[in-house]
Amino acid sequence: MKKIALLLSCCLLGIHAICQNIQASIAIIPEPVQLVQNAGTFVLPKNISIELPGLPELKQTANFLQQRLTMATGNTVSISNQNSAAVIKLVLNKTANQIIANEGYQLTVTTSNIIITANQPAGLFYGVQTLLQLFPAAIESNVAVQQVQWQTPCVSITDYPRFGWRGLMLDVSRRFFTKKEVKDFIDLMARYKFNLFHWHLTDDQGWRIEIKSYPNLTKKGAWSADKTGYFGTFSEPLPTEPRTYGGFYTQEDIKEVVLYAKERFVNILPEIDVPGHSLAAVASYPELSCTTGADKYEVGSGENFMDWSHGHPPIALKDNTLCPANEKVYVFLDKVMTEVAALFPFEYIHVGGDECPKNYWEKSDAINALMKKESLKTMMEVQAYFEKRLEKIVENKGKKFMGWDEILEGGLAPNAAVMSWRGELGGIQAAKLKHDVVMSPSTFAYVDYMQGDQIIEPRVYATLRLNKTYMFDPVPAGVDAKYIKGGQANMWSEQLPSVRHMQYMMWPRGFAIAECVWSPKEKKNWNGFVTKVEQHFKRFDIQEVKYAPSMYDPEFIAKNSNGQLLIELKNEVEGLDTHYSFDNSFPDRFYPKYTAALAPPKDAVMLKVITYRGNQPIGRMIAMPIDEMKKRAGIKK
Ligand code: ACM
Repeated sequence: MKKIALLLSCCLLGIHAICQNIQASIAIIPEPVQLVQNAGTFVLPKNISIELPGLPELKQTANFLQQRLTMATGNTVSISNQNSAAVIKLVLNKTANQIIANEGYQLTVTTSNIIITANQPAGLFYGVQTLLQLFPAAIESNVAVQQVQWQTPCVSITDYPRFGWRGLMLDVSRRFFTKKEVKDFIDLMARYKFNLFHWHLTDDQGWRIEIKSYPNLTKKGAWSADKTGYFGTFSEPLPTEPRTYGGFYTQEDIKEVVLYAKERFVNILPEIDVPGHSLAAVASYPELSCTTGADKYEVGSGENFMDWSHGHPPIALKDNTLCPANEKVYVFLDKVMTEVAALFPFEYIHVGGDECPKNYWEKSDAINALMKKESLKTMMEVQAYFEKRLEKIVENKGKKFMGWDEILEGGLAPNAAVMSWRGELGGIQAAKLKHDVVMSPSTFAYVDYMQGDQIIEPRVYATLRLNKTYMFDPVPAGVDAKYIKGGQANMWSEQLPSVRHMQYMMWPRGFAIAECVWSPKEKKNWNGFVTKVEQHFKRFDIQEVKYAPSMYDPEFIAKNSNGQLLIELKNEVEGLDTHYSFDNSFPDRFYPKYTAALAPPKDAVMLKVITYRGNQPIGRMIAMPIDEMKKRAGIKK
């Protein structure tokens, strides 16, 4: 009550800053469609009674709610499917509310109880996720926390997603993630209302799914040499080098993960990436290649075998493709798709299709003969021929066909859905052709890119800061929204040396993507989002999930002003001060504060910067060599 009295009086007096502070205590990610804060708070009693429908689909929702409330509070929790006096009620109300549809919910918290209603079990699950975000951050603790007032503000929330496809992709080929790590990934994504896990199961550096009719795929294809450093620059493994890095999921593992995801209302989209990105398959079954000598190939270990200097498609130095002119390839794909389709209940299978080099095909007599026979004029048409045959195979297994936007080249297969990654263009073209589209443009949604300057971040070939990620809109201008199924972020794993670093790369950009695919566009608000992210950092600290603090570090912009270097520093988070030194010592808030572009003193060798919020350091100490700035500005030393 005290808070509400303060809220009313401060709003009446027009003291917006205080009002905002109170509002800031509600930090739901993704932002709900409608949230009204009412007077008062609900305080959890010592004995917490929950009523929910006794459906098998809700077992995990009930377990999750019970676990969080008992572990963190130490209180007792009882669950039953009939208890009119329960303080928390989950109600399935299948006809009442059309607007919340299949995944939406209404959540009402009053001083006496909490009621979540939804049309479907998924809505109740999402209502529970929101409810937990209303409690203090300590609710994330796995041990009882003392001296916390376990309360939530009174609210009325109506919420439902903007898109039905809210995805995160994980590449388990370049880095193998264990079954437990995959489950943890799914756990966390579900808490932010993602509903699609895109499992990139095969690539040049490892085939990760057991296929019983082709055992070599995992006997040989799942193992590479263990290397440390920068992927793509590793030395070619010696013939004697042990191939001990890797792993794969047995079909029993896959079934377990599919069930685990289903209990969290997450579908799994399997990806079998062909005809390119197939070195692991070719090394296991060289007869699938057009190239003689493929029997000498080994699974990739992060050595470079692709020349990108001419752009798309790349020129391969080893033929990592399946041969479209070889009937054995279609027998192989038929058997693989039979097993994949039986394991994954989701309606789509993703077949890759990206970055397929054509230079070996150009030299192949078999491809030449195929081109004559099928009147194919270009290598793009050869790939399109392959994709169309593969679409038929996939459809024969009762599944829908999806690929990366390269499948547009040479003519799209009749029913194909396109996942747009090379910017938005492929998605725009496919939607104009009336094909379904999922947007995951690298420009907004490639969460393997660096989040800040490469002087401090582990190096990747591109940068995508949090504020740019937050600008992602899955519906590009001029496109009919009915063809856009939704959006997703992609976590490629070439530069992920560990699961901890994968978490660092995923969060907080995962929060931004969650909001872009769930919340109404007009509800997005960068400053409000940053405030919420900081609240969720506290939750991640308690859960010991790693995240990147890069949003607190400035962007360095090097300019050439008539041969003179000027350095601009830009913060993406408002209200931070950046302090700097040119004298090699570590700046703190008693050092000069950045206000305008800096011209380094003549003999300076290093710019050191750190951001503060008030009198607290918040960014990392960054040392930027002046020579590096000169190089970026195109100024000779
Ligand atoms: C991709 O990033 N090659 C789809």
